[in-house]
Amino acid sequence: MGEDLRFDGRVALVTGAGGGLGKEYALLLAARGASVVVNDLGGDRAGQGKSAMAADQVVNEIRSKGGKAVPNYDSVEDGDKLVQTALDNYGRIDIVINNAGILRDRSFARISDVDWDLIQRVHLRGSFLVTRAAWPHMKKQKYGRIIMTSSASGLYGNFGQANYSAAKLGLVGLSNTLSREGAKYNIFCNTIAPVAASRLTQDIMPPDILEKLKPDYVAPMVAYLGHEDCKSTGGIYECGAGWAAKLRWQRTAGANCLKPNQPYTIEQVRDNWEEICNFDGKVTYPSSSQDSTMLMLESFNAGSSDEESPASSSSDTGGDGDDDGGFNPSKAIGFEMQSLDFEYTSRDVILYALGVGVSTTQPDYLKFLFELNEDFCVLPTFGVIPAFAGLSNLTSVPGLQTIDVTRILHGEQYLELKKPLSASMKLTNKPMVVDIVDKKSGALIITNVNSYDDNGELVVVNQNVVFLVGAGGFGGKRSSPHLKETVKAPSREPDASMKEKTSVDQAALYRLSGDYNPLHIDPSFAAMGGFKQPILHGLCSFGFACRHVLKQYANNDVTKFKSIKVRFSKPVLPGQTIQTDMWQEGSRIHFQSKVAETGAVCISGAYVDLHGGAELTNAAGNQPPSPGLKSEMVLSAANEIVSSSPDLVKKVNGVIQFNITSNGKVAAVWTFDLKGTGAVYQGEPKSGKANATVTVSDDDFVALASGALQPQTAFLSGKIKIKGQIMLLQKLLPLFQSFVKGKL
Ligand code: NAI
Repeated sequence: MGEDLRFDGRVALVTGAGGGLGKEYALLLAARGASVVVNDLGGDRAGQGKSAMAADQVVNEIRSKGGKAVPNYDSVEDGDKLVQTALDNYGRIDIVINNAGILRDRSFARISDVDWDLIQRVHLRGSFLVTRAAWPHMKKQKYGRIIMTSSASGLYGNFGQANYSAAKLGLVGLSNTLSREGAKYNIFCNTIAPVAASRLTQDIMPPDILEKLKPDYVAPMVAYLGHEDCKSTGGIYECGAGWAAKLRWQRTAGANCLKPNQPYTIEQVRDNWEEICNFDGKVTYPSSSQDSTMLMLESFNAGSSDEESPASSSSDTGGDGDDDGGFNPSKAIGFEMQSLDFEYTSRDVILYALGVGVSTTQPDYLKFLFELNEDFCVLPTFGVIPAFAGLSNLTSVPGLQTIDVTRILHGEQYLELKKPLSASMKLTNKPMVVDIVDKKSGALIITNVNSYDDNGELVVVNQNVVFLVGAGGFGGKRSSPHLKETVKAPSREPDASMKEKTSVDQAALYRLSGDYNPLHIDPSFAAMGGFKQPILHGLCSFGFACRHVLKQYANNDVTKFKSIKVRFSKPVLPGQTIQTDMWQEGSRIHFQSKVAETGAVCISGAYVDLHGGAELTNAAGNQPPSPGLKSEMVLSAANEIVSSSPDLVKKVNGVIQFNITSNGKVAAVWTFDLKGTGAVYQGEPKSGKANATVTVSDDDFVALASGALQPQTAFLSGKIKIKGQIMLLQKLLPLFQSFVKGKL
């Protein structure tokens, strides 16, 4: 138990303190040493009349107990007179409790102008005027505690109290802003919504209940909010009968109803209504207007993946959308499938390498095809193979048991290696359906498979996205926060390009790595799917494309590989040539693959992330690093600030990667590691992945750092691109502001 909380030397003004709740506040504060101005107009509960009696009685009671108090009989509409009483008698004002109140209850249609105006004048305007009069004094002394009195009627509405509800919720808005404006002067402002027996409630609640709701069961809460020990500001507290609780905003994950290149229609709102209103999903608790808009802006990212899916554009696979095949997404989402072990040896690794086009005609082939070679290694994309066994089991998932597997198309794949793959390993796969997205013409089923080694360490992360043709229109959400997004390639000409002809037996060879779907070997089965011949596995083209990137940008060093994301757009036929166009943006290599013979894009929105950051160089040598970036000075200073600001690090608690561009190309990569001890350094995150990646030009970065450019404006005008948690950038703002304060 700590010491008693005292108010010695503090001056408190309590409005409407002649009775009810205000009287108890005044008595308690005075009993704990405060000098109290007991204000009360002394009218009736509807605001009629005036009397000095109410305030005088309370002052007398305080004085009789040895406390310090003076009366004030003015209306709160004369706010400055109330504050002047405090200054005249005690020379300062520390605590303002805006409590005075009246009622003029009427059903809405019967509210007169007087009923409306008087309620606003006493509650909202009165609190404004009293607080405004106290404000400059609090600001000057760098101390103030303000309490606004709201009501459940304002927070939730109440029949017959439209005027009162409006004023009471208005006080929450007033407090919200005062808490922000006052923070730097140590002026804190909070709001209470009390419940207590008083003349305002005597005819609303039964006597036995009123007995339990004595005003003194609210007073300690209000006194604590008025004490210097209490660091809350901008809070809303419901309190009564000795119970107190804090209230906050909660928001659904929301829905991005806007489709790329389409007008925003009423019907899109209607169609997304369930998702807009669904609190069962990923909810957020915005606590500032920045939170509010920044969280909203995150939906820009989520919506960007909403392009035509490969399957929906492939009309040859059919699907009328009516038959849901017993498809029940709500049952399936979150279902963890049975863990499956997968063991492989160098033989499997070599077979896979052959399947994705490694050939003895290539200079580096021994490291991929000969297990005794001293550099023998596993192609990173082999990481999809262990997970494959788990995935073929989608029909074991409740809600997916009756789906038509012939209508499943592999839409997208994400793969990340947490550690390089060994030549032989035993992995345990843990697959889970993380989300199902309604694409109207079909459903996107998103499954994550984490693969763990014998020590229980996570080695491989796969995200597999399949399109179930005809299963859309179930009223589900249109995007998913769980989906690893594809990213559009830069619009400039590719930085590098590589062509490689597949073998006519490529699919026959690749299937031996585990995908035995007859679509890839049996002409009659392929014909049923509308294909004139068996097609190459999407994951086979994926293996080819990743090899191209590794060859071009990493000298075939598989340890440089971090992750890959692709969307399968069109099939490739065995024997066709895969052309991979590549663009380097720092350590991210964007790529797109097409069938050279037809020009049809088979892999789109794809990228490979490499370890190595800015020091990474293009093997083709056409990406010289840009010298002399203006941002370097800022970033070096940032390290100093971060290392000496543990509070900032704690507040941000995340890793932000900045890709600094110059002339449209990523010229430097910096990591703000604001987790743990905190550091700013050149290159990608040394461990793990960034929580947010910000791509910004050198000039705009400096403008952001100097405060000349606000992150929100920069985002909206397209000057910065943010992936991941946009909020982190918002939290980083104080760092930038400290630059403005002269660190630059
Ligand atoms: P109360 O009627 O006992 O006390 C209010 C006091 O304010 C009265 O003494 C009155 O003379 C004074 N007053 C009214 N107009 C004034 C003015 N223009 N200038 C100065 N003083 C004025 O009522 P109670 O219940 O103690 O209410 C205190 C506050 O708590 C009010 O703001 C009320 O709206 C709020 N509240 C009370 C609840 C309850 O359950 N009692 C529920 C929700 C909110």
